[in-house]
Amino acid sequence: METLIKPASGAMIESLQRTLGADAVLLAAQDQQRYLTDWRGQFQGKALAVLRPSSVDQVAGIMRACHGSGVQVVPQGGNSGLAGGATPSASGEQLVLSLERMNRVRLIDPIDDSMIVEAGCILQQVQEQAAEAGKYFPLSFGAEGSAQVGGFLSTNAGGTAVIRYGNARALTLGLEVVLPDGAIWHGLKRLRKDNTGYDLKQLFIGAEGTLGIITAAALRLYPRARQSCVALVAFGSPRQAQKGLARFKDELGEFLSAYELISQPALSLAQSHLHMAPALLPDAPWVALVQVATANSSLALGELVENVLASCFDDGIAADAVVATNERQAAAFWRIRESITAAERAAGKSVKHDVSVPIGAIPGFLDAVQQAVGEAHPELRIIAFGHMGDGNIHLNILLPADAGAQHLAAALNTLVHDIVTSFEGSISAEHGIGQYRVSELIRLKSPTEIALMQKIKQALDTTGQMNPGKVLPAPRD
Ligand code: MLT
Ligand code: ZN
Repeated sequence: METLIKPASGAMIESLQRTLGADAVLLAAQDQQRYLTDWRGQFQGKALAVLRPSSVDQVAGIMRACHGSGVQVVPQGGNSGLAGGATPSASGEQLVLSLERMNRVRLIDPIDDSMIVEAGCILQQVQEQAAEAGKYFPLSFGAEGSAQVGGFLSTNAGGTAVIRYGNARALTLGLEVVLPDGAIWHGLKRLRKDNTGYDLKQLFIGAEGTLGIITAAALRLYPRARQSCVALVAFGSPRQAQKGLARFKDELGEFLSAYELISQPALSLAQSHLHMAPALLPDAPWVALVQVATANSSLALGELVENVLASCFDDGIAADAVVATNERQAAAFWRIRESITAAERAAGKSVKHDVSVPIGAIPGFLDAVQQAVGEAHPELRIIAFGHMGDGNIHLNILLPADAGAQHLAAALNTLVHDIVTSFEGSISAEHGIGQYRVSELIRLKSPTEIALMQKIKQALDTTGQMNPGKVLPAPRD
């Protein structure tokens, strides 16, 4: 067995083996491998050990053992994050704490429209369990087959249904959290209203494991849709697509459950990745995947969508549309949208951006970036797509596989983020800061905000042991 244990940590590891069981403490390189890199293989680290506790008490025991010992802890979920927030540093001195074995559904309450799930539950299982109870858990994104509750809450994930249901934060009623000193905060209340001072759960959601470890969550459920209609709508420009969005919102209100903008290069990349016939889709510079859904089974939803589309055609907003005629076709449309990230990964290196701007600023923002990148690097391919209804664009740029790629990636980050800032936007809409965006956060967030964040970090993680170097720079940086 290959181990890299410092003598000082050896006793701690032995004690953890005794209390957690040997199979919950991974020391061998081959056992640790999948916990030491992210899904895209962009970040690589080392670990003193990978711990796999199976209860909140075990997590608390680990944190008590670590507190004040100088050993740092990196909480990890399904490892599908895109900013390196769950990958340990290269020091080999950190413990990775995987929540994957805490995967029980503790409660589903259809009257209360809520469920309590542990941090290691996979998002797709949460959706399925809710569906079995006749309910709907709306969070949805491409990595839902591997993303875990603790991870999607720690990054405040968004995805494709935010336009109607909000992001992970909006879907959370309560949390159970193990604090850095091993104390357990039992905050699994399922209340819609609770004005008893600071809303503590909001501190841990989106904190990327830098303040404590989310071990369970009380989530909101919704009525399930009894019918839905999915269409791909062709537009000549983002401005037209934005007019289409306004039209759908005005005409169909809360029925609108997704409005995903996809540029032609993103569409072609995903289609060829999936070996899908191009004839299926409209041939236009921009396409929006539009979904409307309702719990009301007697509404003529398809007719309502056809009416909105007809008004878009009449007013010269949209050029063409394909409405899915059955569930299989609707699923194929979604598969294309959800495969863009995997298609990009297969295409080689890329520099990813996860930005948001006010919805009305999207066309101007896209024009500005395309012009600036086109002037500086006409050879690069821009893959733009995203959640137009949330003002969130993924503007990813495919990179050449040569040695200068890292320098180029940094230059492109600066260029895109400066334009985002000029549109009063955010450099991370839904993926988080992780380790990937720390320097850009420090460059672009106001000193007042950074100082407030640092005060919160110091107050909750007094010894600086929780996922250092993520979100905020590690003290020595
Ligand atoms: C998505 O919306 O598909 C992902 O969040 C985007 C990405 O991989 O950049
Ligand atoms: Zn996204």
